[in-house]
Order: sequence, then C-alpha cells, then structure tokens
Amino acid sequence: MAIENVKKKKKEKEVAQKDERSFMPRRDIIDLFLPDAFEEGKDYVYTGPGKYARVYVIDKYPRKMHVGILNDLFEIDNISVSTYIENVPDAQVVKKLTSKLVSYQSNMYMKLKRGNMIDYGSQQAVADLDAMREAVQTNRDRMSYVQILITLWGKNMEELDQKGEWLEDICARKGMRPRVCIYDQAKAYITSLPYKNIKYMDNMRNAVTGVVASLVPIGNTEMSHPGGIYLGNNLYTNSPVFFDSFIGPPLLTNPMMAIFGMAGAGKSVTMKTIAARAAASGEWIIILDPENEYENLIKHLGGQYFEIKSGEFSGINPFELDIEDGDKGQEVNIYSKLSEIRELISMFCEKFREEPLRGQEISIVEEVINTLYTRKGITRDPESLYREVREELHGKFFTGKVKKEMPTLSEMRVELNNYEPTKGLAEMMKILVDGRSLSMFDGQTKIDLRKRIIGINLKHLTDEFMKFFAVVNVMSWIWSRFSNWKFKAMHKRVIVDEGWLFAKYPHAAVFLESIARRGRKYRISLLIASQQVNEFLSSESGKAVINQCATKFIMKQDANVAREVAQYLVLSEACKEMISSFGQGEGLLMTDTDLVVMKMIPFDFEWDYVTT
Ligand SMILES: Nc1ncnc2c1ncn2[C@@H]1O[C@H](COP(=O)(O)OP(=O)(O)O)[C@@H](O)[C@H]1O
Ligand SMILES: [Mg+2]
Repeated sequence: MAIENVKKKKKEKEVAQKDERSFMPRRDIIDLFLPDAFEEGKDYVYTGPGKYARVYVIDKYPRKMHVGILNDLFEIDNISVSTYIENVPDAQVVKKLTSKLVSYQSNMYMKLKRGNMIDYGSQQAVADLDAMREAVQTNRDRMSYVQILITLWGKNMEELDQKGEWLEDICARKGMRPRVCIYDQAKAYITSLPYKNIKYMDNMRNAVTGVVASLVPIGNTEMSHPGGIYLGNNLYTNSPVFFDSFIGPPLLTNPMMAIFGMAGAGKSVTMKTIAARAAASGEWIIILDPENEYENLIKHLGGQYFEIKSGEFSGINPFELDIEDGDKGQEVNIYSKLSEIRELISMFCEKFREEPLRGQEISIVEEVINTLYTRKGITRDPESLYREVREELHGKFFTGKVKKEMPTLSEMRVELNNYEPTKGLAEMMKILVDGRSLSMFDGQTKIDLRKRIIGINLKHLTDEFMKFFAVVNVMSWIWSRFSNWKFKAMHKRVIVDEGWLFAKYPHAAVFLESIARRGRKYRISLLIASQQVNEFLSSESGKAVINQCATKFIMKQDANVAREVAQYLVLSEACKEMISSFGQGEGLLMTDTDLVVMKMIPFDFEWDYVTT
C-alpha cells in the first residue's frame, strides 16, 4: 500500500539523518497530510479517532451536463470531490467510436429484422456517437477519460450513513448515481488524493471537452467579473474579488443585492465602499439614510445631501411626472400617478380617522387630480410636460422647452374643498400643507438631478407616521425618477441602509418590492442592508424583496440567527459556523452560481468617509 511505502521511505531517511534529527527535529511536507492511523474497512477508511471516510465513485452520469453540476454537492460539509481527467489520443477515439457505432447499428438492424419495435434508446445512442465522432474527426472537440471520486467524512459510521443518503439524494436530482467503492476503499481513497498516481480504475467514462469542463468541482470559487468593482479579498485564497451587479445572466439573474449582519458586522462600511466605487464608475446613486451616517461620504463625492424634517419642504413633489417607456412607446403615465396619489391620501385618512377613502370620496379625489393636470395642459403626451420659453439675452432671442410646474398638495386641497363630500377631507389635509407638520411634500420638486449622488436623511423624523409618510413619498419619487426613459441606459443604484425600518411599513415594502421586481428592466440595482433576516421574512413583501436579490452578502450573525439564516438560504453546517465567527467586514458573498468567503477592504483613503 502506498502509504506504507511512504512510511518506510521516511524511516530510512530518518535513520540517515539521525544525528541531525536528534539535534533539531525536522518535518517534511508528508507530515502535513499523513494520517494518524490507517485502517481499511468494507465501506470506510479509518484515519484516526473520530475520523472516518467513505469513498464513492460516480457510476452513472446524466446525458446532458452543465458547468457547476457538482456545486450542490458542497451542501454537505466535510466532503471532498476529486475529478480525474486523462486525455485520449484522437486516433484511438475515432477507432473506438466507429466500432461502437457499428455494433449499435447492427444490433438495431437485427432487432428490426426479427420484427421487434424500434429501440429509441439505441437510436439516440447512435446519433450521439455519430455526432461525437464527427466532432473529434473535424477537430472541434477532444475526448478524455474522466472519473469522479467523492469522499465523505464523519465522526462515526452513523454520520457517514446519513451523509451517504444526502449524497444519493443530491446526485439523484442531477441524474447521477454514486456507488460506494466496496472492498476497495483504500485504493479509492488514495486515488482521490492529489498525487497523480491513479490506482482505482473502475468506472472511467469518456467525455468530450464540454463535459470535462462541467466536472471541475467549483464549490469554493473565485469571483472575478470582468469590469466589476473591487470589493475585497477571498479569505482563503487571498485573491481579489471583483463584482459587477449589472453583469447579467448567466452569472447574475438580477442586479439586486441584500446584506445581512448583526449590528457592528460592517454592513454600512460595505455599502459606503460599494457606493463610492460605483459612483466612480459612473453610476447614479440615491441613498436612504435613516441614521445620518452618509453625509460625509456624499459631501466627499460631491453629491447632494438633504434632510427631511417636519414642517420643512423636502424638495420632493408627489405630483411630479416623468416620461416612461410604455407599451406603445414613450408616454406620461398619468393613470398610475393618479392611483399613487389616491393611495397616499387614503393611507393618510386611515391614520387620521381610522378609515380609508370612501366610495364617493375616491371618485372626487380622482376627478380633482385629473382636473389639476388638465388645467396645466398635462396629458399622456410627453410633449405636454414642457412649455416653450423665449428669452432675450444680450439683444438675442433664445427659445427652448422647460418642464412645467406640477400641481401640488395645496392646490389639491383647495380643489377638494369645493365639493361637499370632501370638505372634511380638505380640512384634515391642512396638516399636509402651508408649513404644517406634515408639509414636507407640498411644493415644486427642486432636487438637483445633475448631482449624481443623492442622500436623503430620514433621521429627524421622530413620529412613526411622519416616517412612514416620508418613506412612501421618497420611495415613489425614487421610482418615478429612475424609471424615466431618459436615464434608461444608465446604471442606477438605490441604497437602503437598515432596510427593516422601511420593510416594516407594508406600503413602503411594496415599493421596495417593486424596485426589486421591476428594477432590472430599468437598470436599477437595489442594495439593501438589514440587521436580521427575520425582520424581512415576517412580511410577504419583505420576503419577496430577499427572494428577488440574486446576490446576498451574509456577514456576522449571532449563533441562533445564523442557524435561521443558514436554514432559509439552504447553507451547509460549515457555513453556519462560519457566519457566527466572522470578523468585522467579513462575509459570505453568494450568487446563483458562486459563493466566496471574503473580507471587504476599504482603501486607506476611503476610511475617512466610510466609517461612522
Ligand atoms: N471591512 C472592514 N474592515 C475592518 N473593519 C471594519 C470593516 N467593516 C467594518 N469595520 C469596523 O466595524 C465598525 C462597524 O461597522 P458598520 O459598517 O458601521 O457596522 P453595521 O452597519 O453592520 O452596524 C466600523 O466602524 C469599523 O471600525
Ligand atoms: Mg450600519
């Protein structure tokens, strides 16, 4: 047995070096992986106390393979997968394929002659073999021998049996079958080690290049999107992680990303670092900042930071309209605006008189909104949003188009007061206008959109309803701005820190969900962080937001929260332990196809504005 040989050799060497060894003990590389003990059983090898291994060979492969087919195996912790690949000379391949092809064909022919049914299985095999032979002959493909050995590790036989069942389940889902190498464990085990001296020759299969590529186990991959922004380094390999939210399928199904971690795990630092680097690559960014943490960053990047405060106009008008890409080309979506404002007023009523808008009120509110837009000549036609201006400057005339002023909440209130059934509503709405406590959204939009980085501070809204009212308005404003056809080609990012503060209001959660669901089409990436997953999982919209995020960055969590997270995201036992032991800035970056354990690394010059 190979290990015994190795031990013998080592002994000889040791004798030769005896003098030297007694003076200064030396270790060589083999000591690093030499097991404490080695005993072969029928279906296991024992390599020391609490260390049992069982080796499987894959003996049935699916007809179609794809890259990453082996990835799911890493759901099982303490598993090693080794793939043996050997090139087969082309001439040999063509000869063998031809003889196989001939034997299949003659078999089929004989069966037919005997009056049997057409054997569709054989027919398919003939077609496959023929296609393969042609590909090899015309140099389009090459053939290799492959073999996959899977080693499961456990503390005892029970654990091995459990993991064995798990392995069979995973393989069955993929159309593969693993077989325990009975009475051949030692040979198979040694074969699976990276020595290049293959011994176990059972169940070799031939495979074309595409299949070989899919057999490389990539459980712990690197992430390096071409053109992506630098995030930090892989904790195991120390290689840099480059990530591009907008890289698209097959690497990412959408540009949304969720970050979870306990307080102090490093979520905000991660978001600020991403924001700064994304801004540098030309993205347009809006940040919702509930804790007043981003001012420094935004000022540093030359953006605009503003605060929403009770009684002060925020610069956002809920009546603001933009041109969208509709089904029939560009249009102004007055109808969705109408229902948005109606909903807003209805929510307001629910809060103030514990009853939403009633039948007749609804129709009057809608009529009033319509009237207000019509009065300004605003229709579904994009041209109707602008008015001509002529200006004289230094004796010359200039003409051009400027955006019209939009209706405001004040105008709406005045109008509602003209109808008997909505007089009470108009009275209630006083609080929304004229500098009263909820008048933050009564005025013409004045946020400077040329500033590509905008931060909105929501910290000073103390009252729950005020917060809610502000969040819904801000979210709807962000959505209408970012879905504007003019910015369609641009990469845009909505950053929401402490997302649970927003997700807890169902109406706000619906906006988040809508950004998460529809954002991809408009090239909007949602980057949302939250302390706990459960805060999100408690609402349907919250769940939908998480499920929509193709990328998740899981940072440090308490052990019991880590368990929940691991369960929800179907992570292995090993991942769960890792999550509860992460240091600051460390986390598990997961996408549909990849998983890396990494640490976010802000550069020295970035620390000035990424810390709190
Ligand atoms: N990538 C990192 N590398 C080193 N230290 C970090 C990193 N991320 C965060 N920290 C440290 O942890 C502190 C808390 O980070 P923060 O992002 O505010 O946590 P959270 O938002 O998750 O509560 C930071 O002030 C910083 O000192
Ligand atoms: Mg934070």
